[in-house]
Formats: sequence, C-alpha cells, structure tokens
Amino acid sequence: MVNTIEWTDDGVVMIDQRKLPSEEILLTCRDYHDVADAIRTMVIRGAPAIGCAAAMGVAIGVLKADDENLDGQFDEICDYLAATRPTAVNLFWAIDRMRALYRSQREQGADPDAIRQCLVDEARRVLREDIAINRELGGHGAALLPHGGTVMTHCNAGALATGGYGTALGVIRAAVEHGNPLAVLANETRPFMQGSRLTVWELQQDDIPVRLLTDSMAGHMMQRGQVQAVVVGADRIAANGDVANKIGTYSVAVLAKENGIPFYVAAPTSTVDLNLASGKEIPIEERSPDEVTQVRGHQIAPQETEVCNPAFDVTPSRYVGAIITENGVARAPYVPSLKALCLG
Ligand code: MRU
Repeated sequence: MVNTIEWTDDGVVMIDQRKLPSEEILLTCRDYHDVADAIRTMVIRGAPAIGCAAAMGVAIGVLKADDENLDGQFDEICDYLAATRPTAVNLFWAIDRMRALYRSQREQGADPDAIRQCLVDEARRVLREDIAINRELGGHGAALLPHGGTVMTHCNAGALATGGYGTALGVIRAAVEHGNPLAVLANETRPFMQGSRLTVWELQQDDIPVRLLTDSMAGHMMQRGQVQAVVVGADRIAANGDVANKIGTYSVAVLAKENGIPFYVAAPTSTVDLNLASGKEIPIEERSPDEVTQVRGHQIAPQETEVCNPAFDVTPSRYVGAIITENGVARAPYVPSLKALCLG
C-alpha cells in the first residue's frame, strides 16, 4: 500500500496526489510553509491525512524555529497551518493536540530542544495512531457489508486520504481480508476526480474489483439493483450525526434511501466535532472556479463563466444508517451514541 506521508530527516515527504495516477512523484516539505501549501493545493488531501500533515507541519516549524520568542513563533506556525482548509476538522484537531503538548512542555519547564523532540515524536505518533485507528474501524465496519455484494463509494477515503489503510476503503479492505468477495463502484467525484484518479488507482493496486462511474450514474445503478451498500468517509461530523463530506455525497445518500440501500459513514472519532450541534454550522470550503471550468488546464466552459464550487456538502443524519469509528458503530439517535463513542 502507498505511503501517503512520512517524516524523514530531509523533511515531510508526501506523494503528490494532484499528479496521480499518471505520475507517482514524492514531494519533500522542508518547512511549515511548504506543508501548508501542500494542504492548500491538495498535494495531500482527505481529512485524516490533512490532520497528519498539520501535526508534522507544526513539528517541522518548531524544529526550524530559533529559541528566541519560541511561544510567538509557535502560535504563528499553528495559525498559518490552521488557515489552509476550513472544513475537515482533523486539521484543527491535530493542531490543538500539538498546542496542548507544547503548553504542557512549557509548563514543565522543558528546554526548547526537548520541546522540539517531543513535538516531532508526537507528530509521528499521530500518523502511527491514524493507521491503527483505520484498521480498528475497518474491522468494525467489515461486518456491516453484504457478502459478495457491490459497494458504492464517493471521493477517496482510502490510504491516500489518511495515514494509511483508509476509512471507507479501510472498511472495504477489511471485509475483503476477512474473505468477503466484494466489488466496488467508484463515483468519479467531479470536479477534482478523487474517485477516478485515486480510489480506482488504490483499489487496483490491491486487486479489489472496481468499476468507475460518472457521478450522475449513481441513481441508475442503484435503481437497477447494482448496489448493495454505500460507504463513504467524512470531513466533519456534527454532534447530531450530520456528515460533511465531498460534494455529491448528499445526493448519493438521498438516492440510497430512496432505493432502500444502507448508507454508512466511516471516520475516526477525531472527525467528530461535538462542539457543533448540527451540520448547518459546518463551514463549507469554496474552491477555485478553475476546477470546474477547466480539465487539466484545458478550458471546457466559456471564458468568464460564473461558477459554484463548494467542495463539500452536508448529509443530514436521517440518511445515515451507521457511523463506523475505531471505538465501535454509532447508530441513531446520534447525539447519545456519538457522545458515548467519542467520550467513552
Ligand atoms: O477535498 P478532499 O479531497 O480533501 O476531500 C476528501 C473527502 O471528502 C473525503 O471523503 C474525506 O476527507 C474522508 S477521507 C478519509
């Protein structure tokens, strides 16, 4: 399986997801500005992977900072990284985790070099833990998938979107590892094409049967009995179980309900934002119009076309059959079930 992100002596190394599947290029981020650029420009994307990158961004920032006014520099690094993308809460979760550690080190009177080492260790731990979490949630979710059925997924919630293994694709991988001969239908996921470029590429590498659909084919395939379950990832889940995920997810969820097909969300508890009562409060990123009017730099709409390009939508919890986390499976009513899984 591909290494999405790695801490090395040279810097934070990421596979450039903008170039996949045609080119497999590794990019080395040597300071926190590079890491922030990589998140903003989608070199690395997917909520848990963004969290891992942010933790490493903080660590590399502090590693390169001088001792003078370390507190001020630390805040600057965290604020800079936090301004990259607004929707995936894992970004803020990871930065908060690094902030808490920094504060406790300061309070204990640790010297700057000890703090640096501690933050690097923590960032590497965030990555290791994410992979372990995905394997856990994969195990919980695998049991929900029908034996030998076809599972639809939207966007890429795979190894590339996480530290490794994946959330939605982690559930599919775990089911296959347990002997379930599943097949996958991958929605291409306009406009950034995470489905066609990344999900199909990943599943092919694992020899998991996958067929590609354009987004508008989802309803037809469901209506014709070609889909037995849907599983997707999430960028942020509100306390009531409303789910922000890649644009188009809401339509897929509504279509699934209309056709009596279970719709599951797989995400680590770090994606659950108990501070938000409902999905209405989740900030939705609006991305560049070029992503819609151009394909690989080629203009496909008249010049000056006005464009809407929300990168995410919110699926109300009434469409969500279950939320699969590393701590178990939450079902409606989500307010108590999510709280129990997140707070223990
Ligand atoms: O804009 P992206 O590619 O970062 O959006 C990614 C998604 O919407 C994923 O489905 C989500 O982050 C879950 S990844 C495990």
